[in-house]
Amino acid sequence: LNYNVERERRYILEVLLNGLRRLEYRGYDSSGIAIDSDLDAVEVSLNESPYESAFPLVFRQEGKIESLVGSVYAEVDAMDLNLEKPFSVHAGIAHTRWATHGVPSPRNSHPQSSGAWNEFIVVHNGIITNYEVLKETLIRNGFNFESETDTEVIPKLAKFVFDKAHEAGQTVTFSQVVFEVMRQLEGAYALIFKSPHYPNELIACKRGSTLILGVKELTDISNSGALFHDVKALTTNGQPKELFFSSDLCAIVEHTKNYLAIEDSEVVHIKDGCVSVLKFDYDKEKPASVQRALSVLEMEVEQIKKGNYDHFMQKEIHEQPHSLTTTMRGRLKHNSVLLGGLKEHMKTIRHSRRIVFIGCGTSYNAALAARPILEELSSIPVTMEIASDLLDRQGPIYREDTAVFVSQSGETADTLLALEYALENGALCVGITNTVGSTLARKTHCGIHINAGCEIGVASTKAYTSQIVVMVMMALAIGADRISTQARREDIINGLSDLPNQVSEVLKLDREMKDLAESLITLESLLVFGRGYNYATALEGALKVKEVALMHSEGMLAGEMKHGPLALVDETLPIIVIATRDSCFSKQQSVIQQLHARKGRLIVLCSKGDAQSVCPGRSCRIIEVPQVADCLQPVVNIIPLQLLAYHLTVLRGYNVDQPRNLAKSVTTQ
Ligand code: G6P
Repeated sequence: LNYNVERERRYILEVLLNGLRRLEYRGYDSSGIAIDSDLDAVEVSLNESPYESAFPLVFRQEGKIESLVGSVYAEVDAMDLNLEKPFSVHAGIAHTRWATHGVPSPRNSHPQSSGAWNEFIVVHNGIITNYEVLKETLIRNGFNFESETDTEVIPKLAKFVFDKAHEAGQTVTFSQVVFEVMRQLEGAYALIFKSPHYPNELIACKRGSTLILGVKELTDISNSGALFHDVKALTTNGQPKELFFSSDLCAIVEHTKNYLAIEDSEVVHIKDGCVSVLKFDYDKEKPASVQRALSVLEMEVEQIKKGNYDHFMQKEIHEQPHSLTTTMRGRLKHNSVLLGGLKEHMKTIRHSRRIVFIGCGTSYNAALAARPILEELSSIPVTMEIASDLLDRQGPIYREDTAVFVSQSGETADTLLALEYALENGALCVGITNTVGSTLARKTHCGIHINAGCEIGVASTKAYTSQIVVMVMMALAIGADRISTQARREDIINGLSDLPNQVSEVLKLDREMKDLAESLITLESLLVFGRGYNYATALEGALKVKEVALMHSEGMLAGEMKHGPLALVDETLPIIVIATRDSCFSKQQSVIQQLHARKGRLIVLCSKGDAQSVCPGRSCRIIEVPQVADCLQPVVNIIPLQLLAYHLTVLRGYNVDQPRNLAKSVTTQ
């Protein structure tokens, strides 16, 4: 929303479409946008319009953002709308979707509308769980539904509330309408409302899903990094500004670094360029107004650009020496580890009966990689839970447990629901996330940010290695009071300091991995065997190949090989065996022999100089990596597999950064 500053229609469109481009990594099956028409009769025939103000024009399209861009400009052209027309105040909204209810199609895309003339339009992130009941009521009251979405009930409910008030001769403010709508909604949501009944106003509110407000003051550009201590102060100054709502900081960083993470049940109302934050409470008739301070974003716009790389995944793989350095910055001191975020709860963690790791996808794998060192250094039993499975089973979580939630985005619905469950059961909840201000960061008792920088590629790479490093540091911090393991801890700390160099070294395998990928392009399947510290590497390597290269691949525990998987072995199926030096090395040597005896097509990932020991005189393909401390080896070992997945994908002609059917952050169950 721009206020008191002239912005041409073209500029407004580009800001909105660019915002969508920045968010496309979160969902990309359809998208939509709404801007104002205007009262110049030349442009749009308003003869039939029931409003004195401009009414919203909604454009929606199936597919990637660029297909929306094409159709918006084509329609704007067909409608003869003037792209150079300036607006001194304008509120636009836009949305990119990852389908939950209803197939990707223009009709199911957002903004969803209340009906004719778009009296109320809404974009929504989340799920409305009671939408069926609401829909029935609205249908009984004469509303027709056009989409299969849960979202459509929201604008229709807003119109219902608005019409009822008007029939009763009452005037209602935009926030009163939204409050009444919120009262009816169940589920998780971040919502933005726009309406021609309230021209140039926007309302955003949330429960569950994340919502950020970005504030860019325009009079004093030199002061644009200033911290506003009171959002309400913005309400009176009347100076030109641009205000941004987004479900993610990535869409805001190029405009401003001043932001506010909106809290659950808060309603942010922008009117006349003023921002007011109100708190919704079911029990109270009137909302209370809230004072909030703006935060300053520590993120550079370069982080969300590809730079010299072809793809984000490629960039993120190659920036791991840097991301690991920032993960460790200020945390390794004189042979000890400082984790400020855990300090106050360290005693409770050390006395817990069990540490339970909870996550999904790559984040789960990262925790699995750190599990052995945590068990070793803490002597506390460590168990693993996939978030959705914990919920399905309603598995036991006790007050004496420390539950560690791992999530790059901090917004994964399954993980957040498991967090709620663990909080209800009284466990100490620790969050490990890359996303400052995320729901996970806010709802856990304490935690550690992995500081890997914004990750855009849907397949997680740099966040994975930073998560492992953070969890190794956590193990070191928990075990810091034990003299018996001091030498071991010092070894690991030295290994951590040198890790970015070793990762730079292993990245030199890029060409070799491309060659390997070329030899695998046409194959249908790939197995990856690992054990001990590198069981997680096998799972994660296979997950990368599956996610982006769309090739069937399975990570397997090498110890289980003879209990089933061996039946799959033949001369064509490629099998990667991870056999770097650690206490499992000799067992992996024997796995290689058994696979070789069955004429398996082997690719062995081993420590530098070990080619002969893992494959004497045989025809295995070898990938040699530097040897590091055993618990850090998963960080080094995953990198050739990330490179392999990347090159396989490019060579097979698939979209690396936006794999089919996936989303970076799955905010629905
Ligand atoms: C999705 C993504 C995965 C990711 C998982 C967990 O499935 O596609 O790449 O590992 O969510 O995400 P989180 O943000 O919780 O780490």
